[in-house]
Amino acid sequence: MGPGGAGNPGFPVLADDDWLYGGTPAKIQETITGGRGGQMTAHEKVLTASEIDTLAKWVVQMHDTLGKGGSEEGWALFKTKGCIACHGEKANGHLVDLPNGEFVTIGAANLTDGIWRYEPGGYESAKYTITYGVNQPGVPQTRIAVMPVFGPDATHGNQAKLSPQDIKKLVVYVHELGGGQ
Ligand code: HEC
Repeated sequence: MGPGGAGNPGFPVLADDDWLYGGTPAKIQETITGGRGGQMTAHEKVLTASEIDTLAKWVVQMHDTLGKGGSEEGWALFKTKGCIACHGEKANGHLVDLPNGEFVTIGAANLTDGIWRYEPGGYESAKYTITYGVNQPGVPQTRIAVMPVFGPDATHGNQAKLSPQDIKKLVVYVHELGGGQ
């Protein structure tokens, strides 16, 4: 993490309102303790080059218009090619919005917030992500987006890397940085 939670290339910016997994203290604690590793299918063998091209352009349009633009052909592919199952019907990464402001998500990127998850962003970057997916075993070019486990886990003899007190302090810090609810 950069100074003030500003983020380094390839790592999320913490000092914004863009929460992949929800910004409540409980969700932040869950993320720090358990780690996260979102999965996105590689579409190399599932979509044609022209479909990937249309979708990558659509992602750029969605990015530039904060989800208000987005070509009709792009939306049609988004809805019929499985993207919607993870990115949600508004493409904001929310599968279900709960009355208390929290939301159900598998951690798929919000495509409407004007923030690129992977540097440098733009058409080529979107095309790459759509083609090779995220955290796909057996796909050498896949994007790797992993948050390590900081709580006790079996691979470290159940030895936590951070104490529960440290995790609490981090949760409060990350929550304040991001202005989460
Ligand atoms: C199985 C779930 C899943 C499916 C299906 C899926 N995605 Fe994703 N997508 C994700 C996850 C998870 C991420 C990465 C979030 C993170 O860790 O930053 C992601 C990231 C992305 C990104 C990167 C955004 C950025 O800011 O760089 C793009 C673009 C994208 N998805 C587009 C699509 C499109 C288009 C489709 C349909 C062809 C699709 N996704 C299908 C789960 C999915």
